[in-house]
Formats: sequence, structure tokens, C-alpha cells
Amino acid sequence: MKAVLCKAFGPPDTLVIEDVASPVPAPGEVMVDIRYAALNFFDTLIIAGKYQVRPPFPFSPAGEFAGRISALGEGVAGLAVGDRVLGSCSHGAARQQIAVPASAVSKIPDMVTDEAAAGLSIAYGTTIHALRQRGRLSPGESLVVLGASGGTGLAAVEIGKLMGARVIACASSDEKCEVARKAGADETINYGANDLREELKKLTGSTGVDVVYDAVGGPMTEAALRSMAWGGRLLVIGFASGEIPKLPANLALLKGCDIVGVWWGEFVKREPENNRQNVAQLIEWASAGKLASQPHRIYPMSRTAEALDEIAGRRATGKILLDVAG
Ligand SMILES: NC(=O)c1ccc[n+]([C@@H]2O[C@H](COP(=O)([O-])OP(=O)(O)OC[C@H]3O[C@@H](n4cnc5c(N)ncnc54)[C@H](OP(=O)(O)O)[C@@H]3O)[C@@H](O)[C@H]2O)c1
Repeated sequence: MKAVLCKAFGPPDTLVIEDVASPVPAPGEVMVDIRYAALNFFDTLIIAGKYQVRPPFPFSPAGEFAGRISALGEGVAGLAVGDRVLGSCSHGAARQQIAVPASAVSKIPDMVTDEAAAGLSIAYGTTIHALRQRGRLSPGESLVVLGASGGTGLAAVEIGKLMGARVIACASSDEKCEVARKAGADETINYGANDLREELKKLTGSTGVDVVYDAVGGPMTEAALRSMAWGGRLLVIGFASGEIPKLPANLALLKGCDIVGVWWGEFVKREPENNRQNVAQLIEWASAGKLASQPHRIYPMSRTAEALDEIAGRRATGKILLDVAG
């Protein structure tokens, strides 16, 4: 089978495609013939050696996938060869077959396509965890999403609306704001052309913002923190801008607000039952046609470098998939 391999840390054009041996599922694992792997921002970091996880070489990027089970390890119950499944792993999905613990996959309902399912695990999984368990988002609260046309950002717009929030989507251009508006945002702010804090004040007045979903970092984070409501929650998701902000702690005191860390990968390990419930909710929403999860673009495996460049170059609006059969 073919695999995209990272054999040394470097930029996307250092990745190679090679034939490698098919995996054999260990007890408790399933083997999946992957149809689509989904790429995320962290894949641009993991291949460069700039991510918190540094896998041994050679490894494949991509942490989520959709495909069909082709073999079962000993002791696996409730799944069968031929089942269509979606799943996640920390890395390793940019290849034609993968063996993962059975607990890492979920069956895809008939009405959900492989294209939509491939990108459901990480961005949406992170976001439902962030807004439910960490942000305690309630109906009627305001939710500000930074980087709202990105993978996690669009998931936050969609899930925020499904949880009954007033969603204010913020992005760096009018075009990106429009993408977020089409995904359901109530209002938008183009922070490439306008001052974020002033615009948030216009929209939320003296009350301020209840919940901020921040996957961008940099100077935007402090502007958002200065706009918080009393008792608000600033969700620290990631730092796509490349800058980890240093925040004045007195702002948390003055606002009576929380600065809340979100780490989905660790949550999955430490709170498997809560994660299972989150995944079930995502699949239910997807089956009912309530989550778009539509890819921005699908690349053949041979163009993985271009796909990663599109994410790193801030040009992706939504999920980027690899067609591993192509
Ligand atoms: N905590 C967790 O468990 C968890 C889980 C998943 C992802 N993450 C993290 O969340 C962050 C976003 O991930 P994602 O998959 O949503 O990324 P993405 O699809 O690439 O979106 C990131 C957004 O950030 C904005 N941005 C600002 N400066 C940027 C820059 N220099 N390069 C690229 N984008 C920039 C862009 O929007 P504008 O152009 O509109 O500013 C872009 O749409 C990453 O840091 C990722 O590692 C964390």
C-alpha cells in the first residue's frame, strides 16, 4: 500500500510517497482501508518538528480519516469487516491502510458521505469539547470565533449555532467573513480591515462577550480578553498565527472571567466516556444534515505538499482532504 512519509523534519515538499507493508491489526484494533484522510493545521507543524508530538521516522501525517474496515484484531466486538467508519489518530492517516484501536473509530451513518465524515473527528471533536465541557456555552450567550473560516473556526460557528449561541465570526478578509456567514454566523468582523476590540464593543456594548473561541493567538487574544463579559470564558484552542500571547493577568481579575485551556487529544485519553458522547452528538447532527463538514478541496495523495501549503498559507476555508486512492 502507498503511504505519504515524513523521513526527516522539513517543509511539505520533503514528504515522499512510498510503498510500505500493510499493517496487521493487534488485539483490540481494526484495520481500515482509508478513502479520505483529512489534514489539519497541526500537520504543517508535525512534519516540521514544531508540534508537541514528534513521532519516530518514518511517519505519515494526517490525524483523521474515513474508510472501510478490512480486518479485525482479536477481541473486537460491535464492528465488522465492511463497516464504513470515521476515526482519528495523532498522525498516520495519509496512507491507504491504518490499524487503530477499535475505540478510535465510529460507524458512519448511510446519509453521511465519506467526504463529510473524514473531517468530523478533530476540528469538530475539539470544538464540541471546547464549547460543552470547557466553555459551558449556554443558549443565548454570545460566542466570538477568531479565525472563523478555518477548520476549527467553521466548526465553532456551526456548533455554536446548534448550541443556541449568538455567533460573531471574526476573520481576516470580507471573503472569509462571508464563508463564516454562510456557515450560520449571525454577525461578522473583518479584523484584517478593522480594530477587533472596537468592533466587538459596537456589537456587544457594555455587556461584553460571553465566550471567545481562539484558535489564532497573537495580538487578537488580548483584544478579545479586553472585550469579555463578567464571568466570560476565553477558550485557548491554538496559535495558528505562530505567536503564543502573553496576557496581563489583571484582566482576568477585572472581568471576573476564566482563561480556559482546551486540549482535545488529552481529553480523549482522560475522559473517554465524555468523548464518546460528544462523537455520538456530532454523528447525530451530521446525519440530520445539521453539520456541513464539507471539504474546501480534495487533493490526490501525490499533491500532499500543495494541500499542506494551502493550510500554512492561510488560504484554506474549511477542511482539506487527501484522496488516498488517487
Ligand atoms: N487545542 C486543541 O486540542 C486543538 C485541536 C485542533 C487544532 N488546534 C489548533 O488550532 C489552531 C487552528 O487549527 P485549524 O486546523 O483550525 O487551522 P486552519 O484551518 O489553518 O485555520 C486557522 C485560521 O487561523 C488564522 N490565521 C491567522 N494567522 C495565521 C497564519 N500565520 N497562518 C495560518 N492561519 C492563520 C486564519 O484565519 P484568518 O486569515 O481569518 O486570520 C486561519 O483560517 C492550530 O494552532 C491547531 O494546532 C488545537
